[in-house]
Amino acid sequence: MKIGLLGLGTIGSGIYEHLAKRDDIEVVRILELLRHPGLEHLETSDYNEILNDPDIDTVIELIGGMEPAHTFTVQALKAGKNVVSANKLMLSHHMEEILTLAREMGVHYRYDASVGGSIPFLYNLMRYRGADRLLSLSGIVNGTTNLILDVMQREGRDFDDVLAEAQKLGYAEANPAADIDGIDAECKLAIASAVAFGQYVRPDDIATEGIRHIQAADIIYFKEMDRVCRLIVRSAPNADGSLSAVVEPTLVTADSTEAAVHMNMNTISVVGEYCGLHTFQGQGAGKDPTAFAVELGLRDILDGVSPRLNPIPEGYARVDNRQGRRAYYLRTTAHPGVPAEKLGETEHGAAYRLEPMSAAEMHALAAGLREKDPRLFFAGISE
Ligand code: HSE
Repeated sequence: MKIGLLGLGTIGSGIYEHLAKRDDIEVVRILELLRHPGLEHLETSDYNEILNDPDIDTVIELIGGMEPAHTFTVQALKAGKNVVSANKLMLSHHMEEILTLAREMGVHYRYDASVGGSIPFLYNLMRYRGADRLLSLSGIVNGTTNLILDVMQREGRDFDDVLAEAQKLGYAEANPAADIDGIDAECKLAIASAVAFGQYVRPDDIATEGIRHIQAADIIYFKEMDRVCRLIVRSAPNADGSLSAVVEPTLVTADSTEAAVHMNMNTISVVGEYCGLHTFQGQGAGKDPTAFAVELGLRDILDGVSPRLNPIPEGYARVDNRQGRRAYYLRTTAHPGVPAEKLGETEHGAAYRLEPMSAAEMHALAAGLREKDPRLFFAGISE
C-alpha cells in the first residue's frame, strides 16, 4: 500500500512514525507547507504530485478543516484512490457527497478516527445496522472538554489553565473554540447518528451548547447535588419518525458511566432492540490514539474488507428536540422567567434549578437570556 499523507501535524506525525515501523504500508509523499529535517525527500507543497501519482493508492487526509480538505478528498476519490481521514468537520458537512462518491468509485472512505479517537466504535456500529434497530446513542466524544470538566471538578483548577494543557497535549482543535463551544462534539454526533440511524444529520440542526462559561462557582452546586458535569451528546429516533439530537453540558450522577470517564477519555453507549446496551470506552484524542484509529482503517483496506461495509444513509433526518423533558441547572444574572428554584448567589449571577422542559425549550430560553447575560451557563440534569 502506497500512501500520500496530507498534513504532518500532531496526528500526521503520529501515523508517519507508526507506519515507518511497518513494511506493508509506505508513505511515499507528504503534502506539507513546512519542511521537516530528514523528510524533505518526501515533502511537497503541490497536491498534484500525489493526485497524479498512479503508485499512490491511498490518501490519508489529516489537514483538517473544511477547505482545502474537502476539495482534496473529492479529487482523490475521483482519481480512484482510497481516503482515510479524521476530519469530522468536513465529513459531517459533506457526508452525502463523500460517501456517495466513494461508493460510485468503488473505493474506501474510512473515517474511524473522526469520532471517538482510538475507540473502534464507528466501524463496529456499521456492522450492527443489518442485525439490529438502534434506539439511542449517547456519550462523551470530546476529549478536550472532558479533560477541562474533569480536572476543574476533581482538582479545582482554572478553565484556561486546563485548556492550555489540552492544547499542549495535542487534544484541542487548531481553534479550541470548536471544542469548548461544542461544535466538535456536534460534528461527531452528526456522523455517529447517521451511521446509527441511517439518515444524514445536518450539524446545524443539532441543539448545541458548550462549556465556555462554566465557573468554579457552578461546580460547588454540582457537588452539593452529588453530580458531575460532562459534555454529553445524545440522539434517538422519536416515535413520529423525527430524531432528537442534542449536545449539552449535563449533570450526571456520580455513579454513572460518564462520571467515571476521566481526562481525554471518551465513551459512547448505544442501545439496540436486540443487543441491549453496549458501551465503548477509550482515549478520544491525542497523537498515538488517533493515529492508531487511522491505521485500523488502512489495515482493513489492506486486508480486503469491503468498502460496502460503509452504509449509505437514506435522506436527511428531521431533527426535533421538543420531545422528552428534564430539569436544568442555570446560572445567570438575568431573571430566568420560568418556574425555578433558586439555589443561591454567585459572583456571576444566581444559580437555579429549572422545572423540567424539553431541550428545544431550554436552548431557546438560553438564547433569549443571552441578550441580557452573554456569560450564562446551563446544564441538563440527567435522570
Ligand atoms: N479536539 C478533539 C477532542 C480531538 O478534544 O476530542 C479529537 O477529535
